[in-house]
Amino acid sequence: MSGQVLRIRLARPEDAPAVAILIRRVVRQWVLPDQSRKAGKAFISRVATTFLREKIVQGQRLHLAYLGDVLVGVSGMRDDCHLVHFFVGTRYQGRGIARRLWERTMRDAIRRAGTRRFTLNATRCAVPVYLRFGFRATGPEQVAHHGLRVTPMKMILPVARGKRA
Ligand SMILES: CC(C)(COP(=O)(O)OP(=O)(O)OC[C@H]1O[C@@H](n2cnc3c(N)ncnc32)[C@H](O)[C@@H]1OP(=O)(O)O)[C@@H](O)C(=O)NCCC(=O)NCCS
Repeated sequence: MSGQVLRIRLARPEDAPAVAILIRRVVRQWVLPDQSRKAGKAFISRVATTFLREKIVQGQRLHLAYLGDVLVGVSGMRDDCHLVHFFVGTRYQGRGIARRLWERTMRDAIRRAGTRRFTLNATRCAVPVYLRFGFRATGPEQVAHHGLRVTPMKMILPVARGKRA
């Protein structure tokens, strides 16, 4: 990773503008080409600064990955079990940042809620990455309630040894 240490921390409300910029850039390049215009527009409005700030204030946990002082990735988990945001800046992709970000996000949910079952709705280009993480598709690619074309996926972690009833 060009010798720089990857730092991951929780987002604060004042991070919302930078997070919104990162997500919009990545979404325009990688997600919108596979979506209808209407769904794309609606999605972009759901990652506006005000919307993200509100979510952070309400307690949604966004993890931010930094290389130096550059924000390079973001993940967002809802209810400690459903991944709602997962983005790495284009020029930083393919360096293992998503893997590190996912492991931190997953550990956080396990610590807080003992989560063993994770779900997400994957955009087309991210499906191979989630398969590498251990997710499996639970249905075909479909148009979700918010209009985005996604593949529903889940991952169930094995019960830790000695914790079986
Ligand atoms: C999906 C995304 C977050 C992955 O980020 P990344 O930092 O490039 O991913 P990593 O380098 O950490 O790779 C993670 C794993 O997926 C694998 N992988 C990456 N791209 C892959 C591909 N096209 N096919 C198969 N495996 C792939 C890597 O080899 C790695 O596996 P490993 O950890 O077992 O070695 C990033 O590409 C992105 O932001 N894409 C656009 C936005 C998007 O679609 N987000 C998801 C919304 S649901």
